Amino acid sequence: MTRIAVIGGGTMGATFIRAVTNAGLISMDELTVCEVVPQRRDWLECEFAGISVTGVQAEAVDCSEIIYLSVKPQDLRSLNSGGETAARLLISILAGSTIADVRASTGAERIVRAMPNTPAQVGKGFTAWTATDSVTNSERELVSRLLDTMGEQLYVSDEATIDKITAVSGSGPAYVFLIIEAMINAAVNIGLRPDDARRMVLQTVSGSSEFAQQSDQHPAVLRDMVTSPGGTTAAGLRVLEQRAVRAALIDAIDAAHQRAEELGRQWT
Ligand SMILES: NC(=O)c1ccc[n+]([C@@H]2O[C@H](COP(=O)([O-])OP(=O)(O)OC[C@H]3O[C@@H](n4cnc5c(N)ncnc54)[C@H](OP(=O)(O)O)[C@@H]3O)[C@@H](O)[C@H]2O)c1
Repeated sequence: MTRIAVIGGGTMGATFIRAVTNAGLISMDELTVCEVVPQRRDWLECEFAGISVTGVQAEAVDCSEIIYLSVKPQDLRSLNSGGETAARLLISILAGSTIADVRASTGAERIVRAMPNTPAQVGKGFTAWTATDSVTNSERELVSRLLDTMGEQLYVSDEATIDKITAVSGSGPAYVFLIIEAMINAAVNIGLRPDDARRMVLQTVSGSSEFAQQSDQHPAVLRDMVTSPGGTTAAGLRVLEQRAVRAALIDAIDAAHQRAEELGRQWT
C-alpha cells in the first residue's frame, strides 16, 4: 500500500502498529519503527515479527512516504527536521502540540494533527483529526482509513476543535475510570466481593454504552426507563444530583478544555 515510519515506539506507537496490521491495511514489512530506547527496540522486534526497527530517525523516514509521530510532546524539538522528514505526510498524535509547533520542529507542510485516546489499545478508540490545506484528498482518505483501524475517527476542519475534543474523548477515559473505580469501591462497601464487583461494574458500564449506541433514544430517556417512581434507582440518582455529579462533569470538561488551550499556547 504505502510505507509508514512510526517515530516513537511507545504505548501509542505500538497501538497504531497493531491496529493497522491487524486490520490488514498495512503489512509489517511496510512499517519501520524508530525508537530511542534499546530495550524497547528489542521488545518491538519480538512483538511485531517482520517489522524494521531502528534507532536512527533518517533510516525510518528515508524509506517511507508517511511519518506517524508518537513521541512525547517534550521530545518534539529534539527530532531531526528538514530533508526527508519535511517532505513527508506527517501524522502527529502529540497532545498539546499544535500544527504550528509540529511544522516549526519538523519542517513538514503536509501535517495531520490527530488526537486518539487510550481505548485505541483495544480497537475501541476515538480519534479526532484535522489537516493542513496541503494534505490532498487522497491522503485524507488514507488517513481516515488508517485511524479507523483504532476505533472510530472524526475529521474536523478547525484545529481549535481538537482542544475541545481532547477535553471530552482524550481525557474522557480517565473520568470513566474514576467512576468505575468509585462504583467498585461502593459495591465492596455494601458487602460484595471485589472480583464480582469489578465484573458487574465493567459489564454495566460497557453494556450501558453499547445499549445507548444501539438505541436512537436520548440518554435522559434511557435513564428514565430504569427509574421507577419511588424505586431504588430514583434513590441513587437523587444523591448523585444532590452531590452535583452532573455539574462536576461539566466543570471537569471545561477545565480540561482550558488546559488544552494553555498547553497549545505554551510552545508559541
Ligand atoms: N496515551 C494516550 O492515550 C495518548 C492519547 C493521545 C495522544 N497521545 C500522545 O501520544 C504520544 C506518545 O504517547 P505514549 O503514551 O505512547 O508515550 P511513550 O510510551 O512514552 O512512547 C514514546 C516513545 O518514544 C521514544 N522517543 C522519544 N524521542 C524519540 C525520538 N526522537 N525518536 C524515536 N523515539 C523517541 C520515547 O523514549 P523515552 O522514553 O526515552 O522518551 C518512548 O519510548 C504523546 O505525545 C502523547 O501526547 C497519547
